[in-house]
Amino acid sequence: MMTSGQHNSANPTRDAASPASTPPPRSEPVGLGRQDAHAVPVIELIDLHKNYRIGTEIVRALRGVTLSIAENEYVAIMGPSGSGKSTMMNIFGCLDVPTSGEFRLSGKDVSKLSQSRLARIRGCQIGFVFQSFELLPRTTALKNVQLPLMYTQATKKRARAMAALDRVGLADRAKHHPNQLSGGQKQRVAIARALVQEPDIILADEPTGNLDSKTGEEIMAIFDSVYSEGQTIIMVTHEESIAARCRRVIRLRDGYVESDTWNDRPSKPSSETAHDKREARLPNDSHRLAAAS
Ligand SMILES: Nc1ncnc2c1ncn2[C@@H]1O[C@H](COP(=O)(O)OP(=O)(O)O)[C@@H](O)[C@H]1O
Ligand SMILES: [Mg+2]
Repeated sequence: MMTSGQHNSANPTRDAASPASTPPPRSEPVGLGRQDAHAVPVIELIDLHKNYRIGTEIVRALRGVTLSIAENEYVAIMGPSGSGKSTMMNIFGCLDVPTSGEFRLSGKDVSKLSQSRLARIRGCQIGFVFQSFELLPRTTALKNVQLPLMYTQATKKRARAMAALDRVGLADRAKHHPNQLSGGQKQRVAIARALVQEPDIILADEPTGNLDSKTGEEIMAIFDSVYSEGQTIIMVTHEESIAARCRRVIRLRDGYVESDTWNDRPSKPSSETAHDKREARLPNDSHRLAAAS
């Protein structure tokens, strides 16, 4: 395992992600000091490196990241373009594997698993929310939400999808197609789709990036509510006002963690957009919703 500062200086290739002036990557654990000693880590990165090769050139997108994210954390990932945010999210989401170092998901080292094992983990342990919603256009909101369950053994698929739609306040839009929904509603459907499998973590890549600020507020109110129900949420954002809603902010620069800070007083949703759907949890609700649908 490489230690701090020992970052492959023998490699003669140009390092596109690190100008000569960059300080050496930190490799000590960050954030752990503020976590409850009994908190269950959902994500652990240990001296994680990710290189991309383009022809003869190697781009070092992540350079020795060590961090831990516990169950029911609410984390914003920030940093300039090219700092490694998407690379890190791809690793969190089992869409890509590290070049070296370890990535543990719910205590299990998944760094070296096969593509098919990764796909299975991705299917049941991770919910994705994208900037551009990524809904199927000719499919109802309900069917979009149901989609992640289609290839699983899950029972009561329709009822579970309805319960997830209800959690985001859209049970009454179940039969609408995406083009009949506003941007904010589309993103709520996408959040319901991410929630339907009750994943270990929700990964959101700029979930408010395509929305106006009021709608962004509404989406953050949904995330706040899902977080208050115990969900672990990690989101990339460029907006300080969005990051201020999260409990922890990790800033990347040139492939390493520049800062990792805790928000003692996260900003609150405005009262008119606050949701309180704590009672709308599966499985109790699924019967009522199945009956209603
Ligand atoms: N598939 C890829 N192939 C080659 N280089 C890549 C690839 N993906 C990202 N990179 C490079 O890795 C670095 C980090 O990129 P990325 O993680 O996308 O940053 P961010 O999301 O913070 O903008 C950048 O220098 C980018 O050009
Ligand atoms: Mg990116």
